[in-house]
Amino acid sequence: VVGATESKNARVKLVLLGDSGVGKSCIVLRFVRGQFDPNSKVTVGASFLSQTIALHDSTTVKFEIWDTAGQERYAALAPLYYRGAAVAVVVYDITSPESFDKAQYWVKELQKHGNPDIVMALVGNKADLHENRKVPVQDGVDYAEKNGMFFIETSAKTADNINELFEEIAKRLP
Ligand code: GTP
Ligand code: MG
Repeated sequence: VVGATESKNARVKLVLLGDSGVGKSCIVLRFVRGQFDPNSKVTVGASFLSQTIALHDSTTVKFEIWDTAGQERYAALAPLYYRGAAVAVVVYDITSPESFDKAQYWVKELQKHGNPDIVMALVGNKADLHENRKVPVQDGVDYAEKNGMFFIETSAKTADNINELFEEIAKRLP
């Protein structure tokens, strides 16, 4: 069957964007190494990691992950990483409305300057801190739906929904 071999070994460039401190690096560390670092250091520039997952239909997807730096001083570098990316994961922290605003800024920037076929996911991280929640789940759901994005809440700390995030992205790839 034409195309079958290609889809069996898909390689996918994925970029993570979002405010500093929302947990982008921790999401990647959890997904790639199964670990959590409570003292995670701010990312400088960007960092690269890759991870391959097997799907239920026995195909595999290799994610080539660019974990960008959320601090404002690095904002100008972002296009280097999201240009050519097939997937953008935009992350906010459910305890921080400012980070939700910043996520919306990144979505708009991707809509203006990203690859037009980009698959976008909106991620509300730190779901374990639900007692300090300031961004209602429904706000994430509504914003994602309006913008044709996949939405999920995760916790890099407890590992909740981390594998699911990447599996759902894999399912949505063209
Ligand atoms: P930049 O590299 O500056 O853009 O930040 P970042 O988005 O990569 O944040 P990072 O992953 O370094 O995490 C920031 C802080 O949040 C660290 O103290 C983490 O331990 C903490 N953190 C990350 N994810 C979670 C989570 O799911 N739950 C909780 N409770 N803390 C988290
Ligand atoms: Mg980081």
